[in-house]
Amino acid sequence: MEIIIRPDAGAAVELVSRLLAMRIGNKPACVLGLATGRTMEQLYEQLSQQAISWQRCHTFNLDEYIGLTPDDPQSYRHYMQQHLFSRTDIDLHNTHVPDGNADDLKQAAIEYEQAIQAAGGIDVQLLGIGEAGHIGFNEPLSAIMSRTRDKCLTPTTRRQNAAMFGGDVERVPGRALTMGVGTILDAGEIILLATGRSKASIIAQAVEGPITSMVSASALQLHPNCKVIVDDDAASALQGREYYDFVFHNEPEWAEFRD
Ligand code: F6R
Repeated sequence: MEIIIRPDAGAAVELVSRLLAMRIGNKPACVLGLATGRTMEQLYEQLSQQAISWQRCHTFNLDEYIGLTPDDPQSYRHYMQQHLFSRTDIDLHNTHVPDGNADDLKQAAIEYEQAIQAAGGIDVQLLGIGEAGHIGFNEPLSAIMSRTRDKCLTPTTRRQNAAMFGGDVERVPGRALTMGVGTILDAGEIILLATGRSKASIIAQAVEGPITSMVSASALQLHPNCKVIVDDDAASALQGREYYDFVFHNEPEWAEFRD
């Protein structure tokens, strides 16, 4: 795992945007795992301005609320259309979001895993992190080997996401269909982006704490190619900062990203 700390949210977002644009430039038919949420809004705005073609990319979103139709303004399919897909030349047939409105959610979950396999697996998985430590909607106690399935959301997550439902926590669906932690760990590369002081404690637990299903993001410590990119606020509870900064300033791979 590598931890890259940028001075502010704008710089963290810019770094992730450049990394993803490089990955797409190097492999135009790449398979991307995508996230939603407030942190990603800024990222998608920047990413859609990059001079890259998305035409041959395939995308798989992490999760979708159960019971929302794709055209519901609060659905993640709608979010992706608004924040990324409509701003790029991506072929919508190549974009996938779990079907949270399926009659048979178990079957929808199996088919989602099969679609990822059929596309050749995820090359790069983009992640945010929830205040309860979730990646996707893998809430505490999600098995590290879990696959796509339907999951009950924690009160913390529902409160965190209430802003997107007019501030009314009761309107936030109680369940979601989400890739599992195991599904996420199968990706070739993982890039987690977190900004803001509200993420400081959970970032420290995920990166420097024990691997535990109580903090799903801590499972990322098992992945051989995982980058955690944070701003100064989200990094503020990390103990090993001196070393992380040293790596960023000395590893050749980061040379072009240093100021
Ligand atoms: C959503 C997702 C979640 C979010 C996380 C952070 O697709 O996967 O894990 O990334 O809840 O959300 P924000 O950025 O709103 O704090």
